Amino acid sequence: MCGIVAYLGNKEAYPVLIQGLRRLEYRGYDSAGVALCQQGGFHVIKTKGKVDDLEAQAKGKDVSGTVGIGHTRWATHGEPNDVNAHPHCSQSEDIVLIHNGIIENYSVLKEQLLQEGYTFCSATDTEVLVQFIDFIKKSHQVSLLSAVQIALQQVVGAYALAILSREDPDMIIAVRKGSPLVIGIGEEEFLLASDATPIVEHTQKVVYLNDEEIAVLKRGQPMQVTTIHNVPHTFKVTELEMSLSALEKEGFDHFMLKEIYEQPRTIRDSCRGRVNVAMNQLSIAGVIDHRERFMAAKRIIIMACGTSYHAGLIGEYMFEEFARIPVEVEYSSEFRYRNPLIYPDDIVIAISQSGETADTLAALEIAKEKDAFLFGICNVVGSSIPRNTHSGCYTHAGPEIGVASTKAFTAQVTVLALLSLAVGRLRGTLPDATFHEVIHELDQLPSKVESILEMNEELKDMARIFTYARNFLYLGRGYNFPVALEGALKLKEISYIHAEGYPAAEMKHGPIALIDAEMPVVVIATHHNNYEKIISNIQEVKARKGRIIAVVTEGDVTVRNLADFVIEVPHTVACLGPILSIIPLQMLAYHIAVVRGCNVDQPRNLAKSVTVE
Ligand code: G6P
Repeated sequence: MCGIVAYLGNKEAYPVLIQGLRRLEYRGYDSAGVALCQQGGFHVIKTKGKVDDLEAQAKGKDVSGTVGIGHTRWATHGEPNDVNAHPHCSQSEDIVLIHNGIIENYSVLKEQLLQEGYTFCSATDTEVLVQFIDFIKKSHQVSLLSAVQIALQQVVGAYALAILSREDPDMIIAVRKGSPLVIGIGEEEFLLASDATPIVEHTQKVVYLNDEEIAVLKRGQPMQVTTIHNVPHTFKVTELEMSLSALEKEGFDHFMLKEIYEQPRTIRDSCRGRVNVAMNQLSIAGVIDHRERFMAAKRIIIMACGTSYHAGLIGEYMFEEFARIPVEVEYSSEFRYRNPLIYPDDIVIAISQSGETADTLAALEIAKEKDAFLFGICNVVGSSIPRNTHSGCYTHAGPEIGVASTKAFTAQVTVLALLSLAVGRLRGTLPDATFHEVIHELDQLPSKVESILEMNEELKDMARIFTYARNFLYLGRGYNFPVALEGALKLKEISYIHAEGYPAAEMKHGPIALIDAEMPVVVIATHHNNYEKIISNIQEVKARKGRIIAVVTEGDVTVRNLADFVIEVPHTVACLGPILSIIPLQMLAYHIAVVRGCNVDQPRNLAKSVTVE
């Protein structure tokens, strides 16, 4: 949450910062601001609202300067308003900074500063931090770098910071702990951002800072990296592999729709270089390199949040089916505070689109202490989870900008299928015929997804009928149960209609009480093992006059005769069914949200990357 960006070089900083903030707006969008180094001090412009509001606010003002920082906020401490927006200045106006994260001991620090005569104008933890650095600098009579180091040794919490000082306007100090930070090294310029998207059009050379590392970026000098304990560190420069077009809407009305339409390609990309259907081969480097750990594993624990958790549930069924290993799927936020039992022969798989989710990172840390083998399934290359796991597998879905996850989910499920097949082969638990059938089906998936995308107009019409619904129920069994959860999540995230996903048989233990003629019930009723059982569940809904929207396999007759609305998807094997079934549900949620006039790409109160717990 919160996006930070900074620039130091020969260009005008303001346009670079604004462009960067637009790219990072998915991380938070309740207020935005910039600070530019100008003659004698900083020019801070900030406002409640989006980057567009910031631009309106800046119109006619002096936005010159070749050094600056920018921020787009997802409020934690203090409501979204002009004063709480970042950047925050010290009272002396000597230091200004932007922050992504949470300073947990801010109230203790604030108390100390109040006693020293400091006053505060905002309700944020960030203003406390900038004043604290100012206080340390003055009371210890040290450089800004030393002040930041001393201050951060006393700070509890998570942060990615970019700091400017009036004393040295040609320098940016950048530091992180628990929140992401990437530094771009261009020709006589530095960029810095929460992810690589604001950097890619300026330079391909990036450095991913590690926790507690501080970078000093000075005009005309190479970057220096040390730690908050003042230990010099070397750093590795990485080449970005990201195309600019991936960051544009390319004619679509919303990123979410573009990303839904990208799924045939992203599923292919998830398999690329790993599956060879003609040769009946599958190779996952992250498994081959650690085959002993996978052979010896007694249990798999999958940790994730949000949509990634739903992918994890599908992974559970896959691993149990193909690799016959017991699997537990955990919400990272629950796992981390539960004193969980973890053993060295456990494999812990963290699933995360961003690779930065604070709860998942913290849960991994706990598993690491217990010597479990850590495996990451992430989308963002170079993010924290891949850097903090023993092995892993990127999903290669490309940048996902719409806050509601779509292509990242289907890519995660694709990778989980590959992984469970690879582990099943390794452990000798997977019959050859099943293996061949599934990889053949994987190869066919992109064209099957394409045929579902052709139903866009039909789904748009259906969406109009349900625009005024107040509640939705989603039901599924087996592999389709997580699809019900994910379908419901999509709808509530972007349309603000209350929606619940349930295992279909559990309906009679509660949700059935809600069903009446007003209640649309989405049932995922494809031709897989529990087909007859789900038909009984549909009958139970019909008997209470609920309106059924059924996702069925092409050619289905039985459910068609019962349901009010039918969405057909092509046939595939059960384990890959979720990849097809979720797509019309993504599209339905999208169109309902559009008709309701919601901001699809930036739904209220949400953020794409949740870097606070
Ligand atoms: C947020 C996003 C979701 C995402 C979840 C987990 O809530 O809005 O789309 O599923 O975080 O994020 P991760 O990056 O770990 O997959």
